[in-house]
Amino acid sequence: MTDHVVMTEMNYSADRPKAANPVKIQDLSLRDGHQSLFATRGRTEDMIPVAEMMDEIGFWAVETWGGATFDTMHRFLNEDPWERLRTLKRYFRKTPFSMLLRAQNLVGYRNYANDVARAFVDRAVANGMDIFRTFDALNDFRNFETVVDQIKKNGKHFQGCMCYSMTEPRMGGEVYNLDYYVGKAKELEALGADSICVKDMAGLLAPYDTYNLVKALKAAVKAPIHLHSHFTSGMASMSQLKAIEAGVDILDTCMTPYAYRTSHPAIEPLVMTLLGTNRDTGFDIRKLAAINEVLEKQILPKYKHLLDDSKISVIDINVLLHQTPGGMLSNLVNQLREMDSLDKIDDVYRQLPRVRKELGQVPLVTPTSQIVGVQTVNNVLYDTPDERYKMITAQVKDLCYGLYGKTAIPIDPEVQKKALKGYPRGEQPITCRPAEVLEPELEKAGKDIGDLAADTDDLLTYTLFPVTGRKFLEWKYGRAEAPASVKPITLEQVKKTDALVKKAKAGELVEKKTDAPVKSERLRAFNVFVDNEYFTVEVDPTGDASVFVAAPVVAAPVHVSAAVPVPAAPKVAPAPAAAPAPVADVGGTKLAAPMPGLIIRYVKNVGDKVAKGEAVVVLEAMKMENALVAPCDGVIKAIGFKSGDTVAKGAALCVIE
Ligand code: CO
Repeated sequence: MTDHVVMTEMNYSADRPKAANPVKIQDLSLRDGHQSLFATRGRTEDMIPVAEMMDEIGFWAVETWGGATFDTMHRFLNEDPWERLRTLKRYFRKTPFSMLLRAQNLVGYRNYANDVARAFVDRAVANGMDIFRTFDALNDFRNFETVVDQIKKNGKHFQGCMCYSMTEPRMGGEVYNLDYYVGKAKELEALGADSICVKDMAGLLAPYDTYNLVKALKAAVKAPIHLHSHFTSGMASMSQLKAIEAGVDILDTCMTPYAYRTSHPAIEPLVMTLLGTNRDTGFDIRKLAAINEVLEKQILPKYKHLLDDSKISVIDINVLLHQTPGGMLSNLVNQLREMDSLDKIDDVYRQLPRVRKELGQVPLVTPTSQIVGVQTVNNVLYDTPDERYKMITAQVKDLCYGLYGKTAIPIDPEVQKKALKGYPRGEQPITCRPAEVLEPELEKAGKDIGDLAADTDDLLTYTLFPVTGRKFLEWKYGRAEAPASVKPITLEQVKKTDALVKKAKAGELVEKKTDAPVKSERLRAFNVFVDNEYFTVEVDPTGDASVFVAAPVVAAPVHVSAAVPVPAAPKVAPAPAAAPAPVADVGGTKLAAPMPGLIIRYVKNVGDKVAKGEAVVVLEAMKMENALVAPCDGVIKAIGFKSGDTVAKGAALCVIE
């Protein structure tokens, strides 16, 4: 019998004999858990009821921030991300907080300037952050330099993270082999990593590869080894066990209601698996059960409508077949569906490996998974037989310039040349550390936002997310009313909705009541899904006689992707497009939106002269920016929208004559 299964006296409670080398556990329920399963929609008010109980378990850390939380909170929940840290810190008095930091990308989708990166780390620490799990989508650790320096200056824990990626069915091949990862671990150790994490965002890590990898890392570096493996493909629980046998120090798990599917293995079975061995966690399983009870009964009913119920299987075998993150695939499906091109999904699957290779065989993780995925979709939709890469996103251009860092293999020179034609920073790509070419940003951002930013936290929110950040600050300081869609729902509302589903299924939904009371401002709209149809239902909590206006909206509900690396639109009807502008009345050539999206800015104004092919407006779709160009020479006669407007596919963005 090997030493990892030495049994001691078994006992449920935490006073059983302490193991010789307990596996340390980080809980992810409050960040990656709800990010993976509920599109990051978890609200702070729904974390508070279990916070003190979780603080008693003995977790090595709880992950409370980072990844998509910052974006989703201010954009969809009308919550101040900084405030969440301060609030939760009042309940977690013992357990350290950890966050996922996208290195120089911070919690956004591009590299920010050094002044932003330093201020962000300082403010995260000031608001309560202890452990910074830092990763770079290209595994280019030059992007770590600024944030790591600032983490160390603050005396906090720097966890160096490497993204696990593959090009073959199992670990190996020319790029992502064992030597690659051992080399990366040594680089992280040289940077002063207090611990080293293998980040398997797509659940690609097979159990025996895990064993070999952890063994090799333990032999190569001194820092504790931490494994982060998503359950998506169904292998993570097995991989965790093999990691334990290979001597892993720390594992990531979730409380059961936040576990499995595209999330992580649950903690409770692991506690039982290790009970009485010399890797026993020492956790009291009854205390974990008590937390689950609260989550199941009081919290999760408010989120179950966000669960991806489009399939029965809890695992996604597409991940095993395509080696792409589950969330990325479902993002692609949503994107194609929005453009009425779902029939092209097989073309996207086929082209994806080719586009990835042409773009430098990058790991597929936020933001590179979006960059590669969206570009592939653009290629499939807009390329012609004699021209590839017809519509190149701004982010692909940045990647080709070197703004994200060094890719695993060189970018295809032809693609690179095409992407950099007319690129504002120059047509010659850089090889230096990207942040070296970025001008400081905070001062300019401060001038732009003015007194709407009351402090540095507000200023950072705006700097990281100029369009949605400004909107949020307007809600926060009462300069604009927050829409009903960002308000929380209550258990009572959930019960009413459930009752409606029953009624709908029984065919008893009334069309409209004639003696309906006046709708109050507390009115909230819900989508009720019944088989292949859904109904928009308005629930007003002030009276019993709520108005139920039920009308089928579309036949196929849009499902939220589960492991969305960036917040996808929730499972609600698409936001109404901004009111049609006078462009309709102006004669001339119209520039139509090729896809639904968010107007970032107009590069040209009414009266400006434009040449065919010149950029007119920047449209964000699926977090990627697309510069839309003039279809002909002429003068801009009218402009249809403004920055921050949501537009439908085909909307007339401007008229040129
Ligand atoms: Co993750």
